[in-house]
Amino acid sequence: MKIIEVKDYQEMSQKAAAYVIEKVQKSPRLNLGLATGGTPVGLYQHLINDHQKNQTSYEGITTFNLDEYIGLSAGDPNSYRYYMNDKLFNYIDINQANTFIPNGDVNDPQKEASAYEKLIENHGGIDLQILGIGSNGHIGFNEPGTSFQSTTHIVDLTETTRKANARFFDSLEAVPKRAITMGIGTIMKSKEILLLISGESKSEAFYKLLHGEVSENFPASVLKQHPAVTIIADQAASIKVNVLQ
Ligand code: GLP
Repeated sequence: MKIIEVKDYQEMSQKAAAYVIEKVQKSPRLNLGLATGGTPVGLYQHLINDHQKNQTSYEGITTFNLDEYIGLSAGDPNSYRYYMNDKLFNYIDINQANTFIPNGDVNDPQKEASAYEKLIENHGGIDLQILGIGSNGHIGFNEPGTSFQSTTHIVDLTETTRKANARFFDSLEAVPKRAITMGIGTIMKSKEILLLISGESKSEAFYKLLHGEVSENFPASVLKQHPAVTIIADQAASIKVNVLQ
């Protein structure tokens, strides 16, 4: 894993954007894996700014998001579809028909999960996957204990994750209890991974990622087995790594 340490959230977002823009310019038909949550918001903002200023084009780009809550419609402001439209897609020249996110508003989420896995395969797989990390080491919505072989599936969200995400909802009760997520096996098939880590609340997770064992109890640890992972981490996230190493 290649680690780039940066000063703060702003610099992490800038560096991540520069990384993505370079890939998009080199490969105008890139299959780009996207993440949600608080971490990549700054990255998306930089992509929009660059698109407006330098006209970097996303016309030929296809995107696949990691996950979606079950039970929220696309129009629900807390759905990840809404998030992606609102934070990125509406402001770049991407063809909306080429932006894929699991649909959590279906009668048969299991069927949706299998179809999503096939969809990624049929497009030739993901070239570059952007990832954040949960404080318990989750990637996508793959909670501790998820098999490293898992494909896109349905998960019961842990209390930790629901509490962490409650800040986006009116109350903890409003946070869905289930989600559809790419599996760890799905993520590991990406040719390249860019993991963003920001803030002191992630410092324990970052430390465990670097110094802990590879274990299904800490999903992100699987990334040590991937041949092309780049981590961009800010100083606050690195606080334990720097003190304890
Ligand atoms: C969320 C998402 C993940 C995200 C992680 C961290 O639950 N499903 O894809 O990476 O948790 O979120 P944040 O960036 O808000 O800390």
